[in-house]
Amino acid sequence: MLDIEQVKQQIQVVRDLINYHNHRYYVLDSPEISDAEYDTLMRQLQELEARYPQLITPDSPTQRVGEAPLESFVAVEHYLPLLSLANVFSDEDVRAWHQRARNILGRDVNEFVCELKMDGLAVALTYINGQLITGATRGDGYHGEDVTQNLKTIRSIPLSVPRDAPPRFEVRGEVYLSKGGFRRLNEARSMEGLPLFANPRNAAAGSVRQLDSRITAQRPLDIYIYGLGWSEGKAVPPTHWETLAYLESLGFRISPYNLLCSNISEAEKYHNNYVEKREALPFEVDGTVIKVNSLELQQQLGVAGRGPRWAIAYKFPATQATTRLLDIGINVGRTGTLNPYAILEPVTVSGVTIKHAALHNEEDIRRKDIRIGDTIIVQRAGEVIPEIVCPVLSKRTGEEKIFVMPPYCPMCGAEVTKLPEEAMHRCTNIACPAQALEQLKHFVSRGAMDIDGIGEKLCSALFEKGLVKDASDFYYLTREQLFTVERMAEKSVSNVLNSIEKSKNRPFSRLLFALGIPHIGAETAELLANRFPDIDSLASAAEEDLMALPSIGPKIAKSILVFFRQEGNKRIIERLKEAMVIKKAKEGPSGAQEWSIVRREDYKLLPLAGQEFVLTGRLEDFTRQQAEDIIKKLGGKAASNVTGRTTCVIAGIDPGSKLSEAQRWGIKIINEEDFLRLIESVSGAPE
Ligand code: IVH
Repeated sequence: MLDIEQVKQQIQVVRDLINYHNHRYYVLDSPEISDAEYDTLMRQLQELEARYPQLITPDSPTQRVGEAPLESFVAVEHYLPLLSLANVFSDEDVRAWHQRARNILGRDVNEFVCELKMDGLAVALTYINGQLITGATRGDGYHGEDVTQNLKTIRSIPLSVPRDAPPRFEVRGEVYLSKGGFRRLNEARSMEGLPLFANPRNAAAGSVRQLDSRITAQRPLDIYIYGLGWSEGKAVPPTHWETLAYLESLGFRISPYNLLCSNISEAEKYHNNYVEKREALPFEVDGTVIKVNSLELQQQLGVAGRGPRWAIAYKFPATQATTRLLDIGINVGRTGTLNPYAILEPVTVSGVTIKHAALHNEEDIRRKDIRIGDTIIVQRAGEVIPEIVCPVLSKRTGEEKIFVMPPYCPMCGAEVTKLPEEAMHRCTNIACPAQALEQLKHFVSRGAMDIDGIGEKLCSALFEKGLVKDASDFYYLTREQLFTVERMAEKSVSNVLNSIEKSKNRPFSRLLFALGIPHIGAETAELLANRFPDIDSLASAAEEDLMALPSIGPKIAKSILVFFRQEGNKRIIERLKEAMVIKKAKEGPSGAQEWSIVRREDYKLLPLAGQEFVLTGRLEDFTRQQAEDIIKKLGGKAASNVTGRTTCVIAGIDPGSKLSEAQRWGIKIINEEDFLRLIESVSGAPE
């Protein structure tokens, strides 16, 4: 048995390794190991910590996943205030600032550090004896909020720094969301019917100020550190530029866009270069920051009001313009969301002609009190889609019209619904042409019906030719029809037909997921398939039957009811039944579905409930998918990694490293025969 000191050392070795690779990945953007190897290290640490919880420390890499929600944030007083920057808008203003500095100092200043002014949220991180102790928002500059839990979820923020760092210091930086991260976040929110964030800055600020840090942990936040707030107990470099390099050596993420300039015109050049290039940057910036490099000169220049005299924000030219809102149009998205957009009198904003702008949802239009015919202010916030900031109320004539969402889908005329807790209106018809193509791609995709012969391209071609209008049409495609598609020859046609045929054997849960019912993801589909034996019993389920299931609330229940009420959907389901994709209840399932004989009224009481299995190696009698399906049908969980929650590892032929991991951690190991015996004993032999 290892003594506790040895375990401690072992844990430290794994943590150091993880921290090293974390830094390579998230800070230096240059990983040395694969994600899988990184995951293995992380799992090792989780195992050790699960066994020795007394050895968990707040700086452990496992502590980045978020913690229980807070009631409210605690206020923190900043040791030194977080100042703001004075804005300038022209080269002339920059020269005037430079001249003022020279006047105050009584000497010339020639070294400046230029940085991008990130459009995010300022934070201060305090480290004491090598550990991150507090992470705070800027707040009013003097008092911020303690958001340590949330900031710890950002992987590029070191939880500890090397021993030779100053014993006490504070760094400052900007937390931000990249343009891509912002887009993905909003896409996911739109699918969920949640209100969208107006821009990356709001999204970053909202994420950092989340009371539930587990939500923050899911947001792709990042940080650039732009300065040392204060430090004690150790000498630090004499210039800002060297300070940044020093902070980088301590593990902080420093912007690669920073530049040391040896005169003020270089600084202006830096700025003007980014006026052109800012659109191409992966994150939003609202200007550049010019800082005097020497810390001694910074000290001498001091502070004027709320901003230092040694730095300025050189803002980018306005990206707003005034124009008229001619009308409001509606696009129908993949899950049927009705997305309103503004049709504008064309206007040029920073060199680009704008005719359309995003309007997000009806609630957003109401809140901003935007009316058709209004004179409005439109803004390009760096993101590709411009947005309306506000109406110009003084220009109102009384002729303007208030916008109301249509009760019927503008594309197909089906009923439009809006759930009270959602921001978006949705078309209820999956046969709606606007949604149809995206729905079809989802239907054939891997996690759904997995028709591997039909990729996105073929899907589009079939849709455009009118051969497939809804999911049921895949099962009525003929050889002749497929030959009419460009580049389809004998072999590819056969492949497609084969894979369509094969897909008829997918379990009910997959089909349910494939139907693309709003809010029904793979997991919910599985839960429903466990409870309802076939599509008819689900379609006729009452709201309270649905709500009786764990994790099904009114939102999902309503979505299911609405879906099965729709005539278009009913027709698709009938055709899928005729094509034998949906098995009739009495006929008994086939293939992997055999195991659905294990059906209990209470899903939670299934025989393997609460047990987690990990498969390694090949099995003789089952494919991996079949074995996993069986485990799931019996209420168990099939996981891909050995963790503290693993109940049992099933070792097949040629097992991998998961077997040795299980041996190392003393987790139960069984072979294929044991597995068969286990499932027979809990379910009875399949009929
Ligand atoms: S220096 C006294 N550098 O801009 C100097 N600020 O108005 C204070 N910001 O709240 C900040 N990028 O959040 C500095 N490279 C950068 C910055 C930056 C963004 C933000 C910061 C601050 C605001 C200043």
